[in-house]
Amino acid sequence: MSKYVIKGGKPLAGDVIINGAKNAALGIVAAAIMTDEPVTIENLPDVWDINVMLDAIRNMGAIVDRIDKHTVRIVGSMCRSIVEDENMRRMRGSYYLLGALLGKYKQAQVPLPGGCNIGSRPVEQHIKGFRQLGAKVEITYGGIFTAEATELKGSHIFFDIVSVGATINVMLAASLTPGMTILENVAKEPHIVDVANFLNSMGANIKGAGTDVIKIRGVEKLHGSTYAVIPDQIEAGTFMMAAAATKGDLLIKNVIPKHLEAITAKLTEIGAEVIENDDSVRVVATERLTSAQIKTFAYPGFPTDMQPQMTTLLALSNGTSTVTENIFDNRFKYVDELTRMGASIKVEGNIAIITGVSKLTGATICSPDLRAGAALVIAGLVAEGFSTVEQVEYIERGYEEFEVKLKSLGAQIEKVSDDEDEDRVARKMSFAG
Ligand code: UD1
Repeated sequence: MSKYVIKGGKPLAGDVIINGAKNAALGIVAAAIMTDEPVTIENLPDVWDINVMLDAIRNMGAIVDRIDKHTVRIVGSMCRSIVEDENMRRMRGSYYLLGALLGKYKQAQVPLPGGCNIGSRPVEQHIKGFRQLGAKVEITYGGIFTAEATELKGSHIFFDIVSVGATINVMLAASLTPGMTILENVAKEPHIVDVANFLNSMGANIKGAGTDVIKIRGVEKLHGSTYAVIPDQIEAGTFMMAAAATKGDLLIKNVIPKHLEAITAKLTEIGAEVIENDDSVRVVATERLTSAQIKTFAYPGFPTDMQPQMTTLLALSNGTSTVTENIFDNRFKYVDELTRMGASIKVEGNIAIITGVSKLTGATICSPDLRAGAALVIAGLVAEGFSTVEQVEYIERGYEEFEVKLKSLGAQIEKVSDDEDEDRVARKMSFAG
């Protein structure tokens, strides 16, 4: 385990380049094994979740060649339909292999996914979708998810709730399912459109991704493709929040500003300046920001994956804010850590009531999950004195070289292993100014 030692108080300034979207890439890597022909994926983020997914498909028999840090070539012709990698339990996106394998081989066996501990994460919508395509689905002893079918057949599926994972998973299987599948009440996140675009580049026939209804005419087989993953909306949003919280000035490059609209709107509302260019956004904050009411919703609403970062920003803003978490039932665990730094936040059910304070004070805090970990780093960048953020492995699941990027923007942050003496690192940072 590693930790970040942070000396707070420096505004972030400069340019930062955003990597490919982790959540799109998880679906795309799974989809890549659905063809026997070579697939080249570009702009793939070099983060833990993706590397575990690549290892898993390698263990299943796929050939995975890393052409450079952000490009891989995958040949899925030798893939088996059984996923044995126990690491897959530690990440959410592993369930996409179920849809991919079911579509390609009509059978799949995958360990039940885990991922961030942000509340109960049921999968009954995935199961419902697969069953409607004609598969027999079971969760067997030990949490192994199995799906098989003698024949799959296109179907009209109405999801009971809007789920990113179920939408992508059933879309994967339906791409190779004979007949027409109509998915209603689907999620519309940018990464759903990206996975659909990738599948279409392999010869799938998917229409309507990004709207409430997706129509998929199953094709007999998919072919090879070269495809670049879209930029990561959440990584971009995190740097936007870091710029605003530190009263900095950041040019955030390689983004699709349209995907950031909900974040941009809230930042502008509380007094930050956001300048949109074609493929970059600049965020400038000079004054203390004001309060806001935030409610997380599925896209195009305010993303739940930006909730902890936004709460951190509002903890420092003037006035009383509320943040309502509508997607996950246990996503305020980091609030205790912020409180220990001096924030004034009360959580009642799924609502955080935040009374803005003028400063935070450095403390030793622990990342409870990926996005909350990033939020605590932002708190550390603003806090007076030194902070230590523990369990940064969570952060590394989804942020590539987070501390390296922050350092290049002027932050005083060092990654140290758990057995290193953090006081010595802090003293060194003090001398550095
Ligand atoms: C994905 C993202 C995650 C993001 C979330 C919401 C990936 C790998 N992860 O997670 O970062 O926070 O979307 O934008 O892309 N639900 C059910 N039954 C189901 C499926 C979901 O009740 O069968 C519920 C969930 O518990 C949750 C809500 O639906 O309350 C949304 O979940 P979903 O959109 O499926 O999120 P994930 O795909 O797990």
